[in-house]
Amino acid sequence: MSYREEYDRSMRDPAGFWRTQAEALEWFTFPADIVSIDDDGLGHWFADGEMNTAYMALDHHVKHGRGDQAALIYDSPVTGTTARYTYAELTDAVARTAGMLATLGVTKGDRVIIYMPMIPESVIAMLAVARLGAVHSVVFGGFAPPELAARIDDATPTVILTASCGIEITRVIEYKPLVDRAIELAAHKPAICVVLQRPQAAASMVEGRDRDWATLLAAASPVDCTPVKGSDPLYILYTSGTTGKPKGVVRENGGHAVALHYSMKAIYNVEAGDVYWAASDIGWVVGHSYTVYGPLLRGCTTIVYEGKPVMTPDAGALWRVCAEYGVQALFTAPTAFRAVKKEDPDATLMKQHDLSALQVIYSAGERLDPPTEAWLTGHTGKPVVDHWWQTETGWAITANLQGVEPMPIKAGSSTMPVPGFDVQILDENGQQMPRGTQGYIALKLPLPPACLNRIWGDPDRFREGYLKFLLGYYTSGDGGYIDDDGYVFVMGRVDDVINVAGHRLSTGEIEEVVATHPDVAECAVIARDDALKGQVPMGLVVLKAGVTVTDEVLQQQLITRVRDTIGAITCYKDTVILARLPKTRSGKTLRKTLASIVNGKEYVVPSTIEDPGVIPEIVTILQTRKVIA
Ligand code: COA
Ligand code: AMP
Repeated sequence: MSYREEYDRSMRDPAGFWRTQAEALEWFTFPADIVSIDDDGLGHWFADGEMNTAYMALDHHVKHGRGDQAALIYDSPVTGTTARYTYAELTDAVARTAGMLATLGVTKGDRVIIYMPMIPESVIAMLAVARLGAVHSVVFGGFAPPELAARIDDATPTVILTASCGIEITRVIEYKPLVDRAIELAAHKPAICVVLQRPQAAASMVEGRDRDWATLLAAASPVDCTPVKGSDPLYILYTSGTTGKPKGVVRENGGHAVALHYSMKAIYNVEAGDVYWAASDIGWVVGHSYTVYGPLLRGCTTIVYEGKPVMTPDAGALWRVCAEYGVQALFTAPTAFRAVKKEDPDATLMKQHDLSALQVIYSAGERLDPPTEAWLTGHTGKPVVDHWWQTETGWAITANLQGVEPMPIKAGSSTMPVPGFDVQILDENGQQMPRGTQGYIALKLPLPPACLNRIWGDPDRFREGYLKFLLGYYTSGDGGYIDDDGYVFVMGRVDDVINVAGHRLSTGEIEEVVATHPDVAECAVIARDDALKGQVPMGLVVLKAGVTVTDEVLQQQLITRVRDTIGAITCYKDTVILARLPKTRSGKTLRKTLASIVNGKEYVVPSTIEDPGVIPEIVTILQTRKVIA
């Protein structure tokens, strides 16, 4: 079938299209209700189906003869270890871990927070929670205690699962003190914290609350899958919005399983038995969808990699893993490829590895910049496919569908809408923009399976944040255009969300932290373009009258404050002191203008500016400043 036929069918007859995809999975009771549309125009998929995602991803394959096939390969250059789990072994490990959680009282609908590094137990934990019909919320290990505390308070988990440490290249990061601090800060106190002691660090235990993972597991018996409804939540994944409070994106079991299973073939062109590697931390949506659920739902072998693309030990790491395990599809973020390109510009390390199994390289998390794409394509000789998606959708909105009909690749474009997504470019009044003209990228409702239809505990925030701006559409928060051939070009966020090394952060949130410094009168945090990480935050601050702090001291204090409050992954390292900020007459800070000045882009000074004289003043400061890093 051609891409056009496939796409048109998904638009013409969504229920029929997705019913067919759902039939490929093993339900306990097949849904009678494929989709119902609510008053907001949102689609609710497979609501009355009975299923269990862990069953579809594990037990089903064992039942159908894949028990001896590798399900999960763990490769950890930072600890010098590898491990391999067959589908039978992984199913057993998950059933036992579910048994362990059941003895702790975890039951259907309960939330379990997972704050763990890239080790098999983390994936096993996610699947074990799913097996019980409970709801996991994985929190990325790079987040500091206040961020973890905010998620604890929002998700109100009964249990937290953690490990004694993560390992960043050679640095052992002790997780347990961070968890202890987060629980101290949180208003909600989870009754139990289960700790996996790793050999690299011994966690101290809090009497009465903390339990040893290994001891509990040794005593646990395997349990069966708990049936859930298609509309029951599988997980909550928090992502950055425009304010300090993270948004809990809710993923429902039914739509998620169907969309991901479909995508593995349609987008990535892999089948059961193939080796698929999404090199992303499980704390991000890519890790959820394509390190854990997608490959397992399809019966592929997935890889859990505890290392970096560079420095563990070198920039050949991605290629070493691909060669060693015969990876057919590799997926990671452009920043990882840029890091590799920087360290190994002539691809000398790449050439030391046999990449003959590798068919296609996939990129997402930010726009794949054309020079990086050209470098990758030139040196690997493989197609490099950029595809655009968000935590909210759970899978790609636009892609080059390798399993349907590979299209010619256009540098800078993530190709065409994926079946199910009606992608439109609109102006602020909801009018369609002509081809080639930039506007807001909006998705016409209803959204296809897997996409969020609520924010945990805050339905109004979902409507306010996504549905209100352009009626009848989901506002993606990204801007871009569609060219004459129908190719979509996603050019960047139109809100205060930034992408730092493929990690989604909120400038508003960083700004809130910078503003708490006692010497800071006011500030604006904007995104500065960065050759490696895509964007990095930069603080433009105005000091309180009479303050005499030096640039160096303030800089260091702000770095520490942002790291301790949000986490090291913010990469906040750049502060500039200004005499005043540019504002409109109504007092709004002109952040867009500031960002354009900082990034050397053209800018128009709005007519509403209070004092145009502030602009040349800021340009001079930025041009003559001493960079303190
Ligand atoms: N736990 C604790 N700290 C972490 C962490 C974790 N899981 N992950 C990152 N950090 C820390 C890093 O150690 C670093 O700390 P430092 O400032 O003290 O050195 C800081 O957070 C910034 O991390 P990062 O931006 O990742 O920079 P890096 O130099 O360590 O690595 C890349 C750069 C490009 C190699 C890395 O960002 C990368 O692989 N990115 C891919 C992103 C990705 O997979 N995104 C998912 C979407 S596909
Ligand atoms: P996250 O929710 O962390 O996956 O981040 C989603 C955001 O990352 C999107 O809204 C985009 O701004 C950006 N993004 C992800 N993939 C791409 C891509 N292929 N091209 C352009 N931007 C992307």
